[in-house]
Amino acid sequence: MSLLPNSFRALVIGSSGTIGSAFMDLLKATPACTELVGIHRNSEFPIDYQNPESIESCATALYRAAPFQLIINTIGVLHTDKWTPEKRLDDLNAEQLMELMTVNAIGPALTIRHFSKLLDPANSILVTLSAKVGSIEDNRLGGWYSYRTSKAALNMLVKTTSIEWARTKPNTALIAMHPGTVNSRLSKPFRGEQIGRPADQAAAEIFSVIEKLQKEDTGSFLTYSGEKIPW
Ligand SMILES: NC(=O)c1ccc[n+]([C@@H]2O[C@H](COP(=O)([O-])OP(=O)(O)OC[C@H]3O[C@@H](n4cnc5c(N)ncnc54)[C@H](OP(=O)(O)O)[C@@H]3O)[C@@H](O)[C@H]2O)c1
Repeated sequence: MSLLPNSFRALVIGSSGTIGSAFMDLLKATPACTELVGIHRNSEFPIDYQNPESIESCATALYRAAPFQLIINTIGVLHTDKWTPEKRLDDLNAEQLMELMTVNAIGPALTIRHFSKLLDPANSILVTLSAKVGSIEDNRLGGWYSYRTSKAALNMLVKTTSIEWARTKPNTALIAMHPGTVNSRLSKPFRGEQIGRPADQAAAEIFSVIEKLQKEDTGSFLTYSGEKIPW
């Protein structure tokens, strides 16, 4: 049985981003979504992964808007003004690795921890956007050391939490989701405009997967078309 009820309240984390904004638009146009909240670094209750305390305070501030049946976290970083993905081992450096771990793994993990209190214990879904390049088994090309490593760490944090939640939150599905290549700020320097599809299409595809999720799917690493990716 599908976990997403006919009428649900949704929270989009990273609603300022390309995929995050597309989810906001899609959910606004979805009649079953009766309440919609979007948060980001500059929202009323800010969430900034460079400031881990903001994660708990943002969750606390949103407590009165809970419970949510759907939380989607889209926050992530591939490149910054300072860093581009490493092509070779000689490009690897502690600062870049730490920054990507902070934003792509530690922030989302603490979000799962603190925002879990906002999930409806009766039926809810928490999707966190990962990336196929975070799959260890699927790594054929190498490179992109920090991004791959941070998403692989995120995947482990999702899997580990899902095992605990099978006991403590048996009606919640926790999913690591690969959105596919999307034309966005993140993919722009890597031919995203040419090889990526529009964010509204990606959000619609991911939402069709979300609508079919069952509690048994918890702890999965899925593509936007619902296939399992090897960890
Ligand atoms: N686009 C793709 O092809 C692709 C492929 C695979 C996986 N993904 C994953 O999909 C997710 C969304 O990507 P996107 O393409 O929508 O990228 P995007 O347009 O660059 O959006 C990234 C989001 O992350 C937020 N963010 C970045 N650093 C942050 C920090 N320190 N604290 C809080 N928020 C921060 C941004 O906030 P600001 O608006 O404040 O900067 C923005 O909301 C990411 O997790 C990415 O790894 C994307």
